[in-house]
Amino acid sequence: MKYPTTLLLALAFAASAAIASAATASDNWDNNCTKCHGADGKGLTKIGKKLNLKDYTDAAVQAKMTDEEMTKAITDGVSDNGKEKMKSFKDDLSAAEIKDLVAYVRKFKA
Ligand code: HEC
Repeated sequence: MKYPTTLLLALAFAASAAIASAATASDNWDNNCTKCHGADGKGLTKIGKKLNLKDYTDAAVQAKMTDEEMTKAITDGVSDNGKEKMKSFKDDLSAAEIKDLVAYVRKFKA
């Protein structure tokens, strides 16, 4: 069977766009979050252990967090008794990137 070149180009473009958007959440995670939460989301980094971070591969941990709470934590940061524990990312990441990161964190669940 013979396909028109325009169709093939459109398919190739769609495929590369899908890959690019998937890489964004993972790049953002690598660049902004792994220092504390770890590449695997378990929070077992040096800082993560000190901060007593949750293990995002634990289904029980995931069940206790709502998407809204996660979005708020990433957007506005997390503080404890007025002390900042995680910074606000609203100046670094767009709302769409934050939404993708919430979905990315959900994927750590084993
Ligand atoms: C300086 C260390 C640090 C960095 C960097 C960091 N976090 Fe956090 N994060 C924390 C701490 C501390 C908490 C609160 C304790 C906990 O929930 O484990 C937290 C909590 C969270 C929560 C849980 C909110 C809830 O409802 O329980 C999410 C989701 C999260 N971080 C995502 C991210 C993402 C995404 C990034 C990168 C854009 C990031 N964090 C970067 C330290 C960090």
